[in-house]
Amino acid sequence: MFENKCIAFIGPGMMAEAMIAGMIHQGVAQPSSMMAAGPTLERLEYLNDKYGIEVGTDNATAARTADVVVLSVKPQRLDRVLAGLKGCIQPGTLVLSIVAGASLSKISRGLEHDIVVRSMPNTPAQIGEGITVWTAAESVTSEQIEMARQILKALGQEIFLEEENYLDMATALSGTGPAYVFLFMEAMVDAGVHMGFPRRIAEQLVAQTVRGSVDFYRTHEEHVHLARLRNQVTSPGGTSAEALYYLEKAGFRTAISRAIWAAYERSRELGKDAKGHIPE
Ligand SMILES: NC(=O)c1ccc[n+]([C@@H]2O[C@H](COP(=O)([O-])OP(=O)(O)OC[C@H]3O[C@@H](n4cnc5c(N)ncnc54)[C@H](OP(=O)(O)O)[C@@H]3O)[C@@H](O)[C@H]2O)c1
Repeated sequence: MFENKCIAFIGPGMMAEAMIAGMIHQGVAQPSSMMAAGPTLERLEYLNDKYGIEVGTDNATAARTADVVVLSVKPQRLDRVLAGLKGCIQPGTLVLSIVAGASLSKISRGLEHDIVVRSMPNTPAQIGEGITVWTAAESVTSEQIEMARQILKALGQEIFLEEENYLDMATALSGTGPAYVFLFMEAMVDAGVHMGFPRRIAEQLVAQTVRGSVDFYRTHEEHVHLARLRNQVTSPGGTSAEALYYLEKAGFRTAISRAIWAAYERSRELGKDAKGHIPE
């Protein structure tokens, strides 16, 4: 699909590397189709050595010849990067952003270019096990939608949704999700240590319990409600019933729900434009 095409990564960090490695590994694009631009020579040399892609320190030069420009800088660097790229992107080029909280309208306005895809990946993308929710501006062609899909597939699963509002929801649920999972796991490990397990063993027990539970959930061919699986391990008067009683009493479910809603509101707030409007 990317033969004779050029994908330029502006911001050659962890996520850009995950995409580059994933696409090469999946045979979606050759190293000769990719280039990366960023400020640090050492980092660029590393990517050039490891993947054989072209690299450079000038964002505008990289973007000028590209069919796809991937914006993979940190959110706080975005304004400056957009200003530097304004006027350098060819009229038919697809801009694919993975920058958290950056709305389609912010990117379009910043670049004066309206062929834009906005996506929200998550951390497991770094091992090709992420999940990305993404959306596209109206002017993105169906061929470009497919190109975006192939690039995002390098990070794991992807879900295209037409309404941009879902991106803020995805930020709160799957984008921020690994943080909730790690906190939950950390609390379990600490409880194991409290009871007397060596930390290493507690970590192994918790990691495999989480992984095994997810795999078990996924082996069910037909959709199964999570409450049914929970009930299966809850015998009357048993240990799970006792533990679940305490979790409910402590407001576990409400805490999770409120936390995710707070992250959703924060994501909407961060996406406000300079005048304080939430993007439509
Ligand atoms: N990490 C995740 O799991 C994750 C999940 C969802 C979304 N995202 C989004 O993905 C984006 C990238 O995240 P990341 O984790 O890959 O960050 P990262 O590793 O810090 O990568 C950012 C890269 O941008 C470079 N950079 C800084 N200023 C630049 C400039 N003016 N022009 C071009 N490049 C510049 C940095 O170079 P130096 O380091 O040399 O300054 C670095 O290589 C962020 O917007 C984040 O919101 C990340």
